[in-house]
Amino acid sequence: MHYTVKVKENVHWIGVNDRKTHLFENLWPLENGISYNSYLIDDEKVALIDTVNYSSTEEYLDKIRSIIGGDRSVDYLIVNHMEPDHSGAIRALVEKYPSVKIVGNVKTFKIVEAYYGYKDNLYEVKNGDELDLGQHKLKFFSTPWVHWPETMMTYDQTDKILFSGDAFGSFGSLDGGIFDEEINFNFYEDEMRRYFSNIVGKYSNMVQKAFKKLGELDIQVVASTHGPVWRNNPDKVLSLYDRWSKFETETGVVIIFGSMYGNTEKMADYTARKIAERGIKNIRVRDASKTHLSYLINDVWRYKGVILGSAAYNAGMMPPMEHFTRTMEHISPKNHYLGLFGSYSWKGGGVKTLNKFAENIDWEMVAEPVDVKGVPDEDAFKACETLAEAMADKLLQE
Ligand code: FEO
Repeated sequence: MHYTVKVKENVHWIGVNDRKTHLFENLWPLENGISYNSYLIDDEKVALIDTVNYSSTEEYLDKIRSIIGGDRSVDYLIVNHMEPDHSGAIRALVEKYPSVKIVGNVKTFKIVEAYYGYKDNLYEVKNGDELDLGQHKLKFFSTPWVHWPETMMTYDQTDKILFSGDAFGSFGSLDGGIFDEEINFNFYEDEMRRYFSNIVGKYSNMVQKAFKKLGELDIQVVASTHGPVWRNNPDKVLSLYDRWSKFETETGVVIIFGSMYGNTEKMADYTARKIAERGIKNIRVRDASKTHLSYLINDVWRYKGVILGSAAYNAGMMPPMEHFTRTMEHISPKNHYLGLFGSYSWKGGGVKTLNKFAENIDWEMVAEPVDVKGVPDEDAFKACETLAEAMADKLLQE
């Protein structure tokens, strides 16, 4: 038997968990799974807010039927976001309830047509428009690029619930606990930041614009499309997203390196040790050849200090470091201290190309890059120590 959960009287969580998919968007590891949250408002008119992924359609339709019974229909499907992890059940829903009106904006409908070919039964809303379900009065807010151009949020003025789409979401399935008061947030905090930084972080300025648009709304429940529903302390998730989208970081350093035969790795380890000796406790050392990009992005979003090391490879940097730095330029997080180091055997290229990255990303360099030929000697380690001290001092001055 599938369960549904009441968020408020007549407002139901009808989401599903996905513990089978390895990679979200076929890119980002889901070792702890993910939930696709959909909501049903059972009023004079029945409204759904977003659907679920395609593979959970049968479970999803069962959940709807368990609440409204076999004789009633769904009147409105509100589409806050068209990415297929939420729109995957639209075709099955329309086939089951052919009179359902799809509620969205002009941009939503372009994607609805492109994905499903639907041109009829569309109910267009603009920023600030309202929809009366009976007891529940909904209001729509256009929040483009959080996370696609069509994205919007829906506010239930009756129960003060913000149906926020991807915003305020998290990786991690809902393992029994649905609400913030039912979960141990220690597990979700890292998964939430990883979700934010991987999926939404590139659009941080649009998250800030969305905050301004939501203004002084009395938000008593934050109901996102992924992860916990926040009804005990919604301010917590709102303030975390506010911090992350303003690039506010913690005192700490992530050292990310690419090393073929261990010379660059030795420099990474030594630099980390010297930073620790200076009193910094949050230090992570990551081998880019092993740790997935998803976790590297998360570390950068967490820590103010970033130190990058690369061996030379075909006169450039190690390919995993190239992938990492290209991604950083693309998503462009701000407000970091930067240090660089690396090693080479003949012509160099690792630190040289890291320097080009430094020019493009425009983070504050704390010391001269350390570029070493062959096995690092005493002078090389001394230079790493200088870099470590400069980074630690900058962080301690914050
Ligand atoms: Fe959860 Fe942008 O989809």
